[in-house]
Order: sequence, then structure tokens, then C-alpha cells
Amino acid sequence: MSLLSYSESGANLDIEALLRAAEPLIELAVAEDMGAGDVTSQAIFSAETQVHAHIVAKAPGVVAGIPVAEAVFRRVSPAIHFVARVEDGEEVTAGTILAEVNGPARAVLAAERTALNFLQRMSGVATLTRYFVDAVACTKTVIMDTRKTIPGHRALDKYAVRMGGGVNHRMGLYDMILIKDNHVEAAGGVQPAIERVRAACPYLPIEVEVRNLDELRQALAVTPPVDRILLDNMSVEEMRQAVSITAGRVPLEASGGVTLGRAIEIAETGVDCISIGALTHSAAALDISMEVADAQHQLPQQDLATRIAAVKALMGNRLVILAHHYQRDEVVTCADFVGDSLELARQAARSDAEFIVFCGVHFMAETAAILARPGQHVLMPDPSAGCYLANTATLEAVQTAWRRLDEIFGDAVAEFTPVTYVNSAAALKAFCGQRGGLVCTSSNAERVMRAALEQRPRVFFFPDQHLGRNTALRTGIALEDTLLWNKHQPPDSEATRKAKVILWPGACNVHQRFRPQDVLAVREQFLGIRVLVHPECQREVVELADDVGSTRHIIERVQSASPGTQWAIGTEARLVRRLQHRHPEQRVMLLASAPPFCRMMGQTTLEKLVCLLEALARGEMLNEITVEAETSYWARIALERMLAL
Ligand code: 13P
Ligand code: SF4
Repeated sequence: MSLLSYSESGANLDIEALLRAAEPLIELAVAEDMGAGDVTSQAIFSAETQVHAHIVAKAPGVVAGIPVAEAVFRRVSPAIHFVARVEDGEEVTAGTILAEVNGPARAVLAAERTALNFLQRMSGVATLTRYFVDAVACTKTVIMDTRKTIPGHRALDKYAVRMGGGVNHRMGLYDMILIKDNHVEAAGGVQPAIERVRAACPYLPIEVEVRNLDELRQALAVTPPVDRILLDNMSVEEMRQAVSITAGRVPLEASGGVTLGRAIEIAETGVDCISIGALTHSAAALDISMEVADAQHQLPQQDLATRIAAVKALMGNRLVILAHHYQRDEVVTCADFVGDSLELARQAARSDAEFIVFCGVHFMAETAAILARPGQHVLMPDPSAGCYLANTATLEAVQTAWRRLDEIFGDAVAEFTPVTYVNSAAALKAFCGQRGGLVCTSSNAERVMRAALEQRPRVFFFPDQHLGRNTALRTGIALEDTLLWNKHQPPDSEATRKAKVILWPGACNVHQRFRPQDVLAVREQFLGIRVLVHPECQREVVELADDVGSTRHIIERVQSASPGTQWAIGTEARLVRRLQHRHPEQRVMLLASAPPFCRMMGQTTLEKLVCLLEALARGEMLNEITVEAETSYWARIALERMLAL
């Protein structure tokens, strides 16, 4: 087992373990705050006064520590009823209710500060971690923490890092060997230092810190090789050279002075992980507060659903509500049609409704608008819901790459069929339409790639490198015949000429979070478990999985499996949670230990849907999605080529 998976499973705290670690801290914190009692609340509220309160995010961020907050309320009074409205690992916007708390006013208010202190601190760490994780999501580099944690809070800090999508480094001095310069000096060199620790602790993984390329060469000369080498405070150029010298023989960790601004250039050197002390020593607390709510403050979801049903009854078949499978449960329940991106595109194309309300992300609504007939309108409850992956390719950047292909081949159109994943802007679909290319979704990518290769000798695939690579391999193209485009330094003409499929360096920040170590860990823990993943996951994960397919494929596989089947699923968390509830006769779990939610998909709430629908009922159109006529014309051609296959 590799060092990464070792240290990860070493820190793999489930909720029970988290609460065990939190218990003494809660005792301490409650005691320091309560002292002899909350004198103010005792003076103001009678013992019988009950209160209903909401814990609300005041800023956007990633939530971590909900179970700890709940434990604080329960510790202060078992009469407090705590209902979580979000899960740890979920990205929330300002104003999101994280939990509801009911109970005796004195107890609720006495627990408030302590519960929030834990929740704010842990959510701050998870949020900062997520910024770094997202910054490097188009690379294979993982983000790691360090031992620079609040004394006594290590388990909580490291749990929060995992909820942010990061990976834990060693938990302490006991679970891994890290040889630093002072150890090397005392032992008389790298080789003797390693020999000594190997003799003393033969089963522990070994990491060696190096400060320059000479030391790196010495560490690489050790046999058998160490488990990881830490590049301490090297410049980006030195790290690039270190990656080239190491040539994949030993995983490399970059450390020292890593800022959010530098993370991507460090990751692009090809290092395997970046460890960042700031994740835990400098994370600002997420702004979260508790508000005492009156009954009218927040309409229950049930009322919102009733209001939606009323608008649907009023509008009849003038209105259709489409929702992607990654939408929130309450939104999915209100939809007329739920599907994956291909099914939704088809449904939009065949709908006669005057108003198509699209609960999904922007490119999906844009696709519906392109396929809409004159007089039809596509509206989104939240038009700012974009897609991380779609945003990794702009028309300008793709045009620049295409011009380079023109230079190398004379005429890129004669050589390449451009294929864009549906997760892309309309302008890129139009780019394909104008050049004889087409669109694909995760359901039909293989068929599309074969069709594209029948048409011309090569394919230029964007924006998702993983879907493109996984699909190319399934169609029988060798890995060496694919080429990852580099936006900053386009590949030379010899390498480009050798490529059959050129891949844009984009990725989905949700599916990127599943890693090969997750597959190995889940197989080790659950005998006979089947691993089922989306093709937006990286090749190494897809190769280890039992099955790969689109959202629809994943749903169908679980639906048709016999009771008792065990699944570890590598796709968006809301869909996996729904499958878990729908199939209690099977064991369905997420492939990752921290749930990867698509933030953008979660932006559509029932409140926003009600607002849009009630405006529509009043004759007011909000958030219409339109595409400029020429772009729409060419994009439609690319989409129709796909739909005709
Ligand atoms: P599907 O094509 O499987 O619906 O996927 C869309 C998507 O955005 C996946 O992340
Ligand atoms: Fe985009 Fe990824 Fe979200 Fe799908 S899961 S909509 S690809 S960000």
C-alpha cells in the first residue's frame, strides 16, 4: 500500500471516532464557558420557556463539525432537539440554514457559543482546504495538511481538512517516519538515517525531506526506495526539475510557503501532493450564527412544495420543470422530469411547453434554450449556477489551441473533429458545429468519439480530459496516442503529430475528488463490494473500478442489482444519498469518505424555484436563458449531430 493511502486510512475518522476525540474538548469548552451557569439567560427566561432557533451560515463556505455542534447541545441538555439540515462537506451559501435547534431557551442559549465555536472553526478549515483543492482540481495533485494544528484539536482539524476534500498527512510522530536534515546530520547521511529507522520501525512508511536537487538524488539512490520525498521550500523551477529527475519512482510532496496564488503553478510541476500548514494554523472561522426563529421566519419545505403544485396546476402543460439528478431532493420531488444531461437535452427538445424551467447548471439550460422552438422560453431558478468543468475552457483559449493545430497541420479541420462535452459554453458547441464537430454527453461519449474518428483521423476533445481519455481508451486508442494540451506551453509539433486524441486540460472538481486510494481502501474494508464510477473520474480510478458509466447508467445498475449487493459509487453525493435511501435492500456508499457535493447544482433551492414560478404565474418571466442567434444556430447543429447518433 502506498504511503498516501497509509496515512489517509490512519486518519480516517468516521463520525464515531470524531465524537470520541471531541468529547473531552466539549467537556472543557462547556466548563470554561458555563462556570456556575448562564446568569443572564437564567434571569430572563423561565425554566419552561422553549425556543426554536436556526443555525445559519452568514458567509459561503464548506461545513464541517455538525455532529460536534449537535454533541455540544446534547451535552448541555438532553432536552434539546437538534436537526441537521446539511451534511459535513457540503458547500453552502450565505443564508443557508445548517441546523434547527428546539428546546429549553436557557439550555439552547447556554450551548450556543460553544457549539458555534467548534462549528465555525472546523468549517473555516474545511472552507480554506476546499479553496486549495479546487485550485488544483485540473491536476492530479492532492492537498495535504500538516501537524500545525491547534493543540489538542488535531483529530478535529484533520477531519475538517478531509471534509474540505484534502488528505491527511501523518497524524503524529508515531504513525510515519519523516527524516529531516537534523536527523540526516546526526545519522551521518541519508542512507544511514534510513537504515536506522528501517531497522527500528520496519512497518512504518518513510518520508525524507530534501532541500535541493543534490539531496534529492541522494534520497532517490536509497534502495529499496522510500515511500515519499518532501521537497522543502524549493522554487517552482527546482520542483519541475525534481519531478523530471524522479520520473515517477517515488511520490513527491511540495512544502513550504504555499499560498493559494502559487498552488496551481506548484501542482502543474507534477508533484503528487502539496502540504500546507496554513490550512489549520491560519484558517479564518466561517461566519455562522444562531438566530431565534419565529414560526413564519422560514416557510417549511412542505408549504413551498404546495405553492409549487399550485402554480403547476394553474399553468398546466404550458409549464414543464426539468431537474438533473444532482439537484436537491426537494427540487427533484417537484420536477416533471428528472434525468441526466442527455435525457434532459432530449426532453427539452421534445417538450411542447411554453416555459421550460431548468433546475440544473447553466450549460444545461443553455442547451435547452438552443434546442427550444420559437416561442418557448427556458428559465433557471438560479442562473448563476455554473459548472466548474465548463469554466475550464473558454472560446478564446480553445481558438488559440486550434490556431496552433492549424500551424502544425496546415488545416486543423482536415485533420481533427472537434468534440465538446455537453458541459461547456454554447460558444464552444458552436465552435464544433462550425467545424463539422459535435457534442457528447457521458452517456454517448464512446459512440460520438467513434463517429468523430470515422470522419477525420484525429479528435480534439474538450473540456474534460478525464472523460476524453477514458473514452479514447474504451474505443481502443492507446494512452500514448492521447496528448494532454498545455495551455501555457503548447506541445511541440512532433508530439502533436503523434497524437490521435488531443485532450483539453479541464476536469470536474467534484469527480476529481475520487482517487485510486479510495478504491483500494473500500475494497479492503468491504469484501465483494462493487465500485461504480462516473467517467469524469480520473483514469486510474476508472481502471480500478468494476464499472463506469453516466449518471443514468449508475442509477440503472443499482436499480437492477439484487438485494445485498454492495456498491461504492464515485459520483456526486446527492445522487448517491438518494440511491442509498431508495435501496435499503442494498448497501450503497460513497466512494470517498467526505461527500463530494456539486456546489453549483445545490444552488437551486425550493425557495428560488417558488420565486420563479410564482412570478411566472403573475405573467413575469425571471432569469430567462437565451443564446445569441448565430451561436445558437451552430451550437444546435453540433447538438443535433449528437442527438441523431
Ligand atoms: P451526466 O451526463 O451523467 O448527467 O453528467 C453531467 C454532469 O455534470 C456530471 O458531472
Ligand atoms: Fe459540472 Fe462537475 Fe457539477 Fe457536473 S458535477 S455540473 S461537471 S461541476
